[in-house]
Amino acid sequence: MKPAWFILLSVGLLVVLWNCHGHSFYSLDASYPFPLDNPPDAEKIKLGRALFFDKRLSKDGSLACADCHNPEFAFTDRKPKSIGINGQLVDRNSPSLLNSAFLETVMFDAHLKTLELQVIVPIQEPAEMGHNMKLLIPKLRSIPEYQKAAKAIYNRDFDAWVLTRSLAAFERSLLSLNSRYDKYMNGNRKALGKDEIQGMKLFNQLYCSTCHPAPYFTNFKAENNGFYTEGSSDKGRFRVTLDSSDIGRFKTPSLRNIALTYPYMHDGSMATIDEVIHHYAKGTRNNNRTHSSIAPFSITPLQTQQLKAFLFALTDTSYLEKY
Ligand code: HEC
Ligand code: HEC
Repeated sequence: MKPAWFILLSVGLLVVLWNCHGHSFYSLDASYPFPLDNPPDAEKIKLGRALFFDKRLSKDGSLACADCHNPEFAFTDRKPKSIGINGQLVDRNSPSLLNSAFLETVMFDAHLKTLELQVIVPIQEPAEMGHNMKLLIPKLRSIPEYQKAAKAIYNRDFDAWVLTRSLAAFERSLLSLNSRYDKYMNGNRKALGKDEIQGMKLFNQLYCSTCHPAPYFTNFKAENNGFYTEGSSDKGRFRVTLDSSDIGRFKTPSLRNIALTYPYMHDGSMATIDEVIHHYAKGTRNNNRTHSSIAPFSITPLQTQQLKAFLFALTDTSYLEKY
C-alpha cells in the first residue's frame, strides 16, 4: 500500500472510532479508576457537572452540591462545619472532592464503597439538601435538558441511576495531581525551593507518611490521630460500625491542596496548618485509642515553616481550567 493511502485510511479509521464511542477529551484522559458499570464519558461528565451546580437538587431550591464543595476552594466550603438548608449546621467539615476517583472508601467514616452510593446521602440528609428521591426524580425528569441527556447517554428515562452515575462520573474527572511537588518528582529539580525540600524530608522523617503516604497523601483508611477527645459526640467510624475500636477514627484526608481547604479536621476546629503541626508535635492523644505512631517530637520554628512550605507545594489549581 502506498504511504499516502495508508495514512488516509488510518486517519479515517481513527475518526470513525472516535465518533463511534462518543469519546472526547475526558475519556481519553481517563487515567483514573472507575467502576465497570460507569465508564467516563464526556457527555455524562457534562450532565454530572450541570447537576452538581443545580440548586433544584435541594428541597427549597437554595443549595447545590457546589455550595458546600466550591471549586474555588478545592471543592470545600471554607466553613468549620457546613451549613445546610434553612441555615442548619451540619455535623462535619466539607472535604475536598479533588482526586476522589482514587478513594477506596467514601466519607469520614470510610463506610461507603463508591461515589455512586454517596450521592443520595446529602440529597436526603435533612440537615443538608433535605430532599426526597421519590419527589426529586420526577422533578428532574420533567426538565427537558435532563430527560434528553438521560435518553442520549443512558438510553433510559432520567432516574436515580442516571443521577448517581452522572454525578459520580463528574466527581471522578476532578483531578489535581500536577503540583510543584509532582513536577519535582517527575524530574524538574527546580520545581521546589530549598525550604520546601527540607520540609519534604521532615514530612518523611516524622511519622506523617505512615497515614498520609505519597502520591495521594492518604492511606485511605480510617485512623485515630489523637484528635478525638474522649466523650465527644462525634465518635467517627464507630457511629456506623458500633465497634469500640473505631471510636475516634476518621478517614485520613489527603493533604493535596491543603493550602486551600482550611479550616481543618472533621469538625473544622483547627484554623491553620501551624495549629495542626502543633497538635502532632505535642503528641496530643486526647483519647486512649490513638494510633501508636502519634508521639511528641521537637520541631524548631524554622522547621515548622519548612514543613508548612512543603505542604503548600502540594497545591495544583489547574483543575479550575478543566472542570
Ligand atoms: C450542606 C453542605 C453539603 C452539600 C449540599 C453537599 N455536601 Fe458533600 N459533604 C459535605 C460534608 C460535611 C461531608 C462530610 C460528611 C461525612 O463524611 O460524614 C461531605 C462529603 C462528601 C463526599 C465524601 C468525600 C470523601 O472524601 O469521602 C462526597 C463524594 C460528596 N460530599 C459529594 C457531594 C455531592 C455529589 C453533593 C450533591 C449531591 C454534595 N456532596 C452535597 C457537605 C455537603
Ligand atoms: C495515625 C495516622 C496519622 C498520622 C501519623 C498523621 N496523620 Fe494527619 N490526619 C490523620 C487523620 C485521621 C486526620 C483527620 C482527623 C479528623 O478529621 O479528625 C488527619 C488530618 C490531618 C490534617 C488536616 C487535613 C484536613 O483536610 O482537615 C493535616 C494537615 C494533617 N493531618 C497533617 C499531618 C502531618 C503534618 C503529620 C505528621 C506530623 C500527620 N498528619 C500525621 C491521620 C494521621
